[in-house]
Amino acid sequence: MAYLEWTDNLSVGVTRMDDHHKKLIALINMLFDAMSGDATRTVDTVLNDLLDYTRYHFGEEEKLLAACNYPDLEAHQGVHRSMVKEVLDMRQRYADNPASVTPNEALDFLSKWLMRHIIGKDLRYRTYAEGHQDPGTA
Ligand SMILES: [Fe+2]
Ligand SMILES: [Fe+2]
Repeated sequence: MAYLEWTDNLSVGVTRMDDHHKKLIALINMLFDAMSGDATRTVDTVLNDLLDYTRYHFGEEEKLLAACNYPDLEAHQGVHRSMVKEVLDMRQRYADNPASVTPNEALDFLSKWLMRHIIGKDLRYRTYAEGHQDPGTA
């Protein structure tokens, strides 16, 4: 099974943000395992962890973008908000009828959900944030 993987071309130039993205990828892979019945943790637990960590990451990323005066911060925040809503919708769909969300669909949906955002939006802040002091490694 091809799990989601972080590769160098996804780097936003700030180690802490890259680490957050790696953790999100790990949670998405964990969700796939949980949905496939290959994990001890339940789908509900992993989905909640994914939501919590997503909110945490978005908050931290927005703080970083504010600190480096990123001009598209407001639009970026709006995208983050709708991304949280997308996962909430998926969680609701799963709660209503677990059979309506297969492991492959969830993996496919969340890999696009995250990868399109990193490649299409997060990489745009690279030039602003690169070299900006990374609080996680200071
Ligand atoms: Fe982002
Ligand atoms: Fe991000």
